[in-house]
Amino acid sequence: MYGRVVLVGLRADIGIDLGTSSILVYVKGKGIVLQEPSVVAVDQYTNKFLAVGEDARSMLGRTPGNIIAKRPMRNGVISDYDITERLLNYFIKKSLNRYLFKPRVVVCVPSGITEVEKRAVTEASNNAGAIRTYIIEEPIAAAIGAGIDITEPNGNMIIDIGGGTTDVAVIALGGIVVSSSIKVAGDDCDDAIIRYIKKKHNMIVGERTAEKLKHNVGCAYPLEEEKFEEIKGRNLLTGLPVNISVSSSEILEALQEPIGEIVEAVLSTLEKTPPELAADIACKGILMTGGGALLYGMDKLLSKKTGIEVNIAHNPIECVARGTGKSLAWMNLLGGK
Ligand SMILES: Nc1ncnc2c1ncn2[C@@H]1O[C@H](COP(=O)(O)OP(=O)(O)OP(=O)(O)O)[C@@H](O)[C@H]1O
Ligand SMILES: [Mg+2]
Repeated sequence: MYGRVVLVGLRADIGIDLGTSSILVYVKGKGIVLQEPSVVAVDQYTNKFLAVGEDARSMLGRTPGNIIAKRPMRNGVISDYDITERLLNYFIKKSLNRYLFKPRVVVCVPSGITEVEKRAVTEASNNAGAIRTYIIEEPIAAAIGAGIDITEPNGNMIIDIGGGTTDVAVIALGGIVVSSSIKVAGDDCDDAIIRYIKKKHNMIVGERTAEKLKHNVGCAYPLEEEKFEEIKGRNLLTGLPVNISVSSSEILEALQEPIGEIVEAVLSTLEKTPPELAADIACKGILMTGGGALLYGMDKLLSKKTGIEVNIAHNPIECVARGTGKSLAWMNLLGGK
């Protein structure tokens, strides 16, 4: 009689896209194994995790007194270290079950993050079980994930519009030549929708309703055929629940400010780009990644404002995680702690 054979791998390397909206985990040899919203529900009194990811997201804005649903990353930076560390721990354990040694981890951070913040992420990941942690900047990871050979001397422009930050970068010879990272992205679009509905319809809606409106009828460029979406909310004056229908042109109007800031960031980065690289970009076009790239007409608008073709990467939400995972191959170059 033979004993049961348990297959245990020696070591797994993993890449984590620590995003404001979602966390994606890439395991070498397997691809993306996890994709969950960056939300946790915590018991206020015991500090215990009650739910993580999708389950916790459905609790946002509806929790009873003792439970708080939290988003530990805001504007692309960590606003709650303790929760982030536990979240990293949870994701590392969930994505790797049978490995003998601790994993090497590459974590992707936004390009505007400070050295102190980088150290904090490294520490959180090491405390969460990594044997070594490497940090990669979001535009570099996005470019690798979008299939760009970042080591070539030609310039490439990447625009990553996430939940908390928009990163615009020109990459050549493996590095960022010029970049700009602004704390204006998908979340600000949701906030702008909430403010617009409040002002125009005297109605209060939650974050989730605003995001749904943005996904379903939102646009950065006028639609050929107007779309409408029914939403539920609370009337500010009567305090009673009401239903209204919101049109795509209303959302277009609501999004003017955040989208204008994103356009400005792209134009100012182009202005700072050395002429040779600008010529490469004009020839090859600009590549957009991140969930915000999916907002209808964002590519059209940016193309009109810059006069350069703008393309959306294949599967833009997964680009950074894929690039983070692929960068594991040259982790030594990234230098981990
Ligand atoms: N179809 C869509 N239309 C418009 N916006 C979308 C769509 N799908 C996703 N988004 C938005 O994309 C954003 C999330 O993108 P992504 O997952 O790239 O962010 P993140 O990486 O978590 O954030 P960050 O990089 O800023 O830390 C959210 O604001 C979400 O509402
Ligand atoms: Mg991101």
